[in-house]
Formats: sequence, C-alpha cells, structure tokens
Amino acid sequence: MPTASAPGKFILFGEHAVVYGKPAIAMAVNMRTEVTAAFSSRTTVDGMLLKEVRSYYIREMLSRWEGEPVSISIHSGVPPSSGLGSSAALSVAFIAALYSLNGDRDIRRIAEEAFDVEYTVQGGASPTDTSTSALGGAVMVGGEQENPLWEFSKGERSWKIGRIESPELSFVVGVSRVHSPTKIMVQRVRRLVERSPFGMEIIDSIGELVTDAISALKKGDAEDMGELMNRNHELLRTLNVSCPEIERMRDSVMEMSYGVKITGAGGGGSIVALTDRPKDVKKAMESAGARSAYIVNAEKNGILWD
Ligand code: MEV
Repeated sequence: MPTASAPGKFILFGEHAVVYGKPAIAMAVNMRTEVTAAFSSRTTVDGMLLKEVRSYYIREMLSRWEGEPVSISIHSGVPPSSGLGSSAALSVAFIAALYSLNGDRDIRRIAEEAFDVEYTVQGGASPTDTSTSALGGAVMVGGEQENPLWEFSKGERSWKIGRIESPELSFVVGVSRVHSPTKIMVQRVRRLVERSPFGMEIIDSIGELVTDAISALKKGDAEDMGELMNRNHELLRTLNVSCPEIERMRDSVMEMSYGVKITGAGGGGSIVALTDRPKDVKKAMESAGARSAYIVNAEKNGILWD
C-alpha cells in the first residue's frame, strides 16, 4: 500500500509571466500532502465513490488511470487556496502513489503528468508548481538554462526546469480572505495580453527582472532580492492581479521586510515577505486581516515514498 507525499511551494518571482515561457523561481515549503493508494474492489477517495468527488483534479487523475480499481486516502498538510500550491502537491502526491502501485517511481514522468493534469483542469498553466513540488528545493522554470533537468512543452511553449542554489532565508506567507481560483486569474491575464501590447510588455519586464533575481539569489543578497520582489509586485499590480485586501496586508509589513509581493495567481490569494523579523511580520499580517500567516522554511525534499 504505497504512500507518497509532496510539498507545497511558493513562487518567489515570475508568476503569470512563466505561463508565457518567461523564467520563474519557486521554493518548496515544509508542508506536505500525503496520499495512500491500494488496489481495491471499487474506486473510492476517502471513502467516497468517484461520482461524489468534487475535486476536478482528482476526477481528472482518476479518469486517466487505466489500472484496477483503487482506494485512495488523502491527508493534506498544505492549506487550500493559499498560494502555497495545494493542488500541485495533491496532484504530484496522488500520481506518485498511483504509479507506485505499478512499481513506477520516475519523478520526471510524475511531474510531467501532474503538469498535464493542472494544464487541463486550469485551461492553461506552467509547470512551475508541479515541478517544484516534485523536485523540492529552489527550482527555476523557463528562461535560458545551461543544464536543465527536464524540459516540458505544451503547444508552442516549452519550459526548461532545473534546480538553483538558494541560501537560508526567512519568509512569511500571508493568506488573504479573498479566494480567487488560479484558472480565473490566468484567464484574466491572458485577456489583457491578447488585447493589448501593453500586457505583453509587462510580461517581458517580469521576465527581465527574474534574470536579475537569479544573481541576487545566488549571492544571497536579501536587500537586492527584496527590491526585486517589490518591483515584481508592482508589475503584477499593473497586470491587475492585486486587490485592496492584498495591498492592506502588504502595507502592514513593508517596513519590517526587505520585500513583499503577491505569490501565486493573486486576485486575493497570498503575499510573501522576505524578512529577518518573521514573528513580527506574521503578527502584523494577521492584524491587517490575513486569514492566516505562515512562517515557511525551504523544504529540500520533493516527492517522498514510505
Ligand atoms: C500559480 O501558482 C502560478 C501562475 O503563474 C500559473 C502557472 O504558472 O501555472 C499564476
């Protein structure tokens, strides 16, 4: 009865632009979703029959499964709708547990299939969340890379995927009370990009900024990284993916942080702050209306099997 787990993540730089092939940097965090799979007389998920399952991700994954019926149980340690990659952690752990029933533990194949599931369910996605969850650590997706581990493509776009060195830094993720599905936000940005050249110019500027961020990250220069995070946030705001609740939370911690930005799809969702005062930042985010705030540590492991 294989159990597989996979971590959540946050995006440090480059969300949305990465959907258009620009580079992004994401980090796995120390929160994991665990999935156990066993062959069974009928397919169930946490005791529910497939027709009763509401998650589109789970329905999509099980519709692709060609093996015997399976009984699945899920323990999610990644808060949902939080910008922390709960759907990617679920998809990666789910597929890792399923494939493991057939003795297949090929991380690349699992990451590619999880990406395909997210792409189908969200109607467009980059492989950022799923690859970071599969690999763990700090991951670069898209852009020019000399020694990528993988390259995934969809239509005319392709993304190189590789690990990058990251120093020990302290981050706080604040989750707003505004729930905003990734699919809707990706579509909103797509409309902007398709309707005006201005949209694509912002995407290009985010891409250029991430190239600078990679050197700042390698040097472990918190000041430079913070400044780039702030610039990245301003560009995301111009893409119209911020909202008053996010701005209020962000304003409340600006002075205690090197940099603060939306992380993930935005529209609500979450912010991430780079700070050396994580406890104060967490408290301030909560006072400014956050649904919850988490001091997150980098997680070096991606998929793990019991
Ligand atoms: C969502 O976590 C990040 C986005 O860039 C979408 C994607 O990369 O699939 C908004």
